[in-house]
Amino acid sequence: MRKLWLPLLVVVMVWMVAGNGEARLRPDFYGSACSNVEGIVRQAVRRKLNQTVVTIPATLRLFFHDCFVQGCDASVMIASARDDAEKDASDNLSLAGDGFDTVIKAKQAVEAQCPGVVSCADILAIAARDVVVLSGGPNFTVELGRRDGLISRAALVAGRLPGPDFDLDRLVSLFRLNNLTARDMIALSGAHTVGFSHCSRFASRLYSFNSTTAVDPSLNAAYARALMRACPRDVDPTIAVNMDLYTPITFDNVYYKNLLDGEGLFTSDEVLFTDRRSRPTVERFASDQAAFFRAFSAAMVRLGRLGVKTGGQGEIRRDCTALNS
Ligand code: HEM
Repeated sequence: MRKLWLPLLVVVMVWMVAGNGEARLRPDFYGSACSNVEGIVRQAVRRKLNQTVVTIPATLRLFFHDCFVQGCDASVMIASARDDAEKDASDNLSLAGDGFDTVIKAKQAVEAQCPGVVSCADILAIAARDVVVLSGGPNFTVELGRRDGLISRAALVAGRLPGPDFDLDRLVSLFRLNNLTARDMIALSGAHTVGFSHCSRFASRLYSFNSTTAVDPSLNAAYARALMRACPRDVDPTIAVNMDLYTPITFDNVYYKNLLDGEGLFTSDEVLFTDRRSRPTVERFASDQAAFFRAFSAAMVRLGRLGVKTGGQGEIRRDCTALNS
């Protein structure tokens, strides 16, 4: 009697795997169709990095913003003549052009060797890993097989990306909506060990914290003074500061050490230390870089599975900035 259930069980299990797009990504997806795809992308990223160090933070942030809106499908790459694509949404206007350019250049290099085979979404995922490695961070295996999305709308961005004023509850719940744990969120925030921020994103912590205190008391006083010098009131809106004061272009665990010293740039950074629920994880990552690297790598792989299109969904774009049409 029990044996009769077996085929049914197998059918149900196959359906569960096939029904879940995430399960279909795999590291060797391109196999002989483009066996050297990772080598080609790595070389293109290296070349771009030789031109500008901004390549590192720009590409990493681009991947995050792509995955949190409509999944990791390169929808953020689409350019619209009407300025109504994902990249035109206010939350995405500060994405640095060098991240887009990295993917465009890598795609051109890949197309020259394997035309029409590799998605822009996969190239972005590989490039995001590569900039982490090339700036001293951990190496990890990237799962592949994503297809490029067919939808890119500015109107779909609002509410999907975290803000620098978020507290722990808002951070945790947004990441949880994206199948990521609080630990994943804390590890991924470590990406702020590289890159820059415009003054407007944290000015309220310096000048208008609340009705009784102008300066956020969780900011280290000397750090607050330095930030005020770099970002006086009504500063030129294009001015940006390093997010990690000490090693801004190295991917390391100094971000967490900074949080321990009250030197987290955003409320959403410093709260990871001031909130006692996340503090132990911050302390762990600050004292053990290998633990941070392991957690970051695992979280990047999970981030890379968000809402992916596989199989017959989406398309393999010829030009990463336009739908094939
Ligand atoms: C946890 C919630 C997060 C918040 C609230 C947040 C917010 C921000 C903000 C406001 C900026 C400055 C943008 C500017 O002024 O140009 C920024 C920069 C950056 N973010 Fe995040 N972010 C978060 C998580 C992440 C994650 C998960 C990643 C990647 C895995 C990431 C990677 C970056 C990078 C690399 C930069 C520097 C960009 C550059 O220099 O061009 N962030 N983030």
